Amino acid sequence: MPYPYQIKSLEEYRSAYKKSVEEPEAFWADIAENFQWRRKWDEVLNWNFKEPKIEWFKGAKLNITENCIDRYLPEMAEKPAIIWEPNNPEERTRVVTYARLHKRVCQFAQVLKNNGVKKGDRVCIYMGMVPELAYAVLGCARIGAIHSVIFGGFSAQSIADRLEDAQAEFIVTCDGAYRGAKDIPLKSVIDDALIGNKLVKKVIVYTRTRIPVSMIKGRDVWWEDEMEYAETQVEKDGVVSFPAEEMDAEDPLFILYTSGSTGKPKGVVHTCGGYMVWTNYSFVNVFQYQPGDVHFCTADIGWITGHSYIVYGPLSAGATSLMFEGIPTWPDAGRFWDIVDKHKVNILYTAPTAIRSLIGFGEGPLKGKDLSSLKTLGTVGEPINEEAWHWYDENIGRKKCPIVDTWWQTETGGILISNLAGITPSRPGWATLPLPGVQPVLVDENGKEITEKDEEGLYKGNLCIKAPWPGILRTTYGDHERCRTNYFATYENLYFTGDGCMKDEEGNYRITGRVDDVLNVSGHRIGPAEVENAINMHTGVVESAVVGYPHDIKGQGIYAYVIFNGRGTPDEQTKKDINQTVARIIGPIAKPDKIQFVSGLPKTRSGKIMRRILRKIAEGEISNIGDISTLLDPAVVDEIKNGKV
Ligand code: WT7
Repeated sequence: MPYPYQIKSLEEYRSAYKKSVEEPEAFWADIAENFQWRRKWDEVLNWNFKEPKIEWFKGAKLNITENCIDRYLPEMAEKPAIIWEPNNPEERTRVVTYARLHKRVCQFAQVLKNNGVKKGDRVCIYMGMVPELAYAVLGCARIGAIHSVIFGGFSAQSIADRLEDAQAEFIVTCDGAYRGAKDIPLKSVIDDALIGNKLVKKVIVYTRTRIPVSMIKGRDVWWEDEMEYAETQVEKDGVVSFPAEEMDAEDPLFILYTSGSTGKPKGVVHTCGGYMVWTNYSFVNVFQYQPGDVHFCTADIGWITGHSYIVYGPLSAGATSLMFEGIPTWPDAGRFWDIVDKHKVNILYTAPTAIRSLIGFGEGPLKGKDLSSLKTLGTVGEPINEEAWHWYDENIGRKKCPIVDTWWQTETGGILISNLAGITPSRPGWATLPLPGVQPVLVDENGKEITEKDEEGLYKGNLCIKAPWPGILRTTYGDHERCRTNYFATYENLYFTGDGCMKDEEGNYRITGRVDDVLNVSGHRIGPAEVENAINMHTGVVESAVVGYPHDIKGQGIYAYVIFNGRGTPDEQTKKDINQTVARIIGPIAKPDKIQFVSGLPKTRSGKIMRRILRKIAEGEISNIGDISTLLDPAVVDEIKNGKV
């Protein structure tokens, strides 16, 4: 049995859960025994949510890359660690064995060292989905540098903000990236982000598309040259080595930026020991991974899902992780199924939005595709609607594959609430049961636990977690107070998720969506305040308000109300200009789907925008707006209703 902590029955789940609550330290110490530590911990857990201060495995020393790579050598040298499927199906697949991964990660760690990167330094990674992205991430982890991966869809301005916030001195990028029919000029975006930046010393550029790039002497270096030189340093007589930096369990592993309802994105910080244990434990249990399985997580490594379930979770379990460069609809809507067929994928983990977009193409793209290798299906990122769930179950799983609906967040490091594939029951639309170590609680606005069922027999409230699990965020980079106010101050002694939730009598959870203003567009978190700031940058825009509305494919679409006072009457062209501004400031992912020009916004007498009203109108609930008597100018509501787009 390769994973002694893999739960194999409902009874085992129940007893593991019970132990995790009653004796958390003993429970996690047992699990942590299954990893490679240079030194064991002095204390399993030390915490308070007041500051917050959360320490797991304090005093322990490790390097996560030894757990993801070295410990599987030489036994698994020839086993595929990463199978890479290119954007263009005509291009050849690359198979990266554990031995090859070891060599590349050692080489790249050496490259970082040669370029002056030291333990604790922040390295920003802005690359497409190529194996080199995984080498870059793991190379950082090997020398103890803190990686901050930025999704390739973010703009130069967003990168500049993140570089500044993290005080990053190093960047790893590509000349360009292929995504479907598009070539994205990554290096050129980085060049824009670096205008005026005085901190960045080195930019390492991997060649993917061979689009022309400007290479600045003394700052920009080619990945290939650096790797070639590093090879001579790390390989002696056919033996590859690069000593992994000894890290404290609580040393930061990475920063990942994510949006909230206010302000600029926050840099969520995860640390080495707890994050490793959590991603591994959740990976092995939720997906019920078996040695030899091919695991295909369709996320981008620019998001937490890719960090945890393409890189760290699978590799720390010695698994085979499939990494796909492209998009589900290119060259046609059968691409996922081609990949499943070609690589005999056993576990497929994707987002409801991807499923919904594929439903739109009907069953044609499935014809002739052999999906019989599939054993487990998963979803993540947003609530899954029943139609999508059943389509996934019938057409992809052929009613033989359990579907795990995994609820979690950037801040949680890994999955917190989900059924365990084939072990605990699934139920459409329900994330079901908490993983061992996770203690959810539903509270009302005052933080009082909900103890009464409603008329449907359900408990409904705001979802909080009572105690830390190993993968919880430790801080927000450079601003611990922001971490406290955002997650630990709403309700005393609780971690607040920002999600609304219901629970049934058996203890199953169903997440209903955000209760703050945060939008979830195609499974990606978007901050309305950021979008408003970007819209307001457009010359002629006086003010704006952004809310979400139900969108058939994206889950939520972005609806912007804009007060325009520029030259002429605002028209379709103006909308395009505004969209272009948003793409420049944040990235194309934040472009509003709908823009309505208004002469005023519904505000309270104290000047606060009444988003509730704007949301109702955007949702089309025009007749059911609720009380507007507290508005400064109630007349504006009728105007907005009449002008709905
Ligand atoms: C928010 C977190 C977790 C990786 C991807 C998104 C929503 C996530 C589910 C699910 C219902 C879900 C929540 C959460 N969410 N998974 N299975 N069912 N809602 O990470 O960008 O940090 O967003 O996504 O609202 O708070 P993220």
